[in-house]
Amino acid sequence: MRRRARLLGWLFVAVLASAGVVAVWAGRVMWLLAAVLALVVFTAALLVELGKRAIDSERLSREVLRRMRKQVALAESGLQAEADRRAGLLLLHDELARLRVDIQSDRDGLPVRVGTEIAERIKRSQPDLLRKVSYETREQLRDMEAFAYLYPQVHPAALMPPLGRWSMDVRNVAHLTDLIRQRVPRRVLELGGGASTVWLGYILREIDARMLSVDHDEKFASITRGNILRHGLEAVVDVQIAPLKESEIAGRAGKWYSAELFTGCGPIDLLIVDGPPGRSSRFARLPAIEFLKGELAEGALVVLDDADRPAEAAAVASWIKDYGMEQIDIGVSGLAVLQWSST
Ligand SMILES: C[S@@+](CC[C@H](N)C(=O)[O-])C[C@H]1O[C@@H](n2cnc3c(N)ncnc32)[C@H](O)[C@@H]1O
Repeated sequence: MRRRARLLGWLFVAVLASAGVVAVWAGRVMWLLAAVLALVVFTAALLVELGKRAIDSERLSREVLRRMRKQVALAESGLQAEADRRAGLLLLHDELARLRVDIQSDRDGLPVRVGTEIAERIKRSQPDLLRKVSYETREQLRDMEAFAYLYPQVHPAALMPPLGRWSMDVRNVAHLTDLIRQRVPRRVLELGGGASTVWLGYILREIDARMLSVDHDEKFASITRGNILRHGLEAVVDVQIAPLKESEIAGRAGKWYSAELFTGCGPIDLLIVDGPPGRSSRFARLPAIEFLKGELAEGALVVLDDADRPAEAAAVASWIKDYGMEQIDIGVSGLAVLQWSST
């Protein structure tokens, strides 16, 4: 298109020039002037057109430049953001590495240092407290160990009643389960029922034994009975109430269960003495052998809980001295285990 316009332009110039030459040759000055004027007009129009195009192309290149600058600026800011992100990540990485080193060195040093420091301070200001905390910690560890041994032995049908506090502690119950498996008793009598009744009920069911669990307290006896039913152990355990009565054994006055309930309940292969409660009289559990000796099978085991308490220690001493019983399994748990012999 542009080429054709240029050709037409030159053709127009050539025609005008020829017209000028003809006008000069023919002596027509007016024609010559008209041709020159047309040439000037054409050249001016051409210059205007060229100027317009130059302005357009400058505008275009400015626009292109502007857009390119914008793109470059965008790219630059993207690069900057990326560089910032990388720098941030590097910082984070360094921070984490430092933290890891700190933790590593603290693991060996700091807790021990802090622990020792605290222990030293407590030791100085409250020696009894430190002793108590250490004791409790050891006790808890001991219970956890016994519990890990005991729990797999039962397959409970319902939530088990908690051991410890008012009831026998876990280690003692675990010791009892060992004794039951070794001796395989047929008849068991428990004085003072509660959580232990349920735990032992599961072990006794396995060996097809029966247990009579006696309580002086109606309310607690009914809780224990409810637990036995909840665990489906009613064919194994019979819970009975025997109120406490004033009695006198070997010159010592105190309260013990009303003995009628026990008549004919033997032969007992395993007697568990965990009642009456210590607060009911000074030597609350001591009378057990005197009242029950007629029901004990030859070689029966008599197990006493809380054997390290003074009243219980006195009962053990009396059973050995007055009834010739032999203490066995010493130091396994908090139970005192004695063997009955009628001879
Ligand atoms: C030394 S406790 C131990 C009872 C049971 N041998 C045991 O270890 O779970 C003796 C007395 O605690 C009472 N007892 C039973 N269940 C109880 C309960 N849920 N809360 C508090 N005392 C309870 C009973 O009266 C029982 O004679």
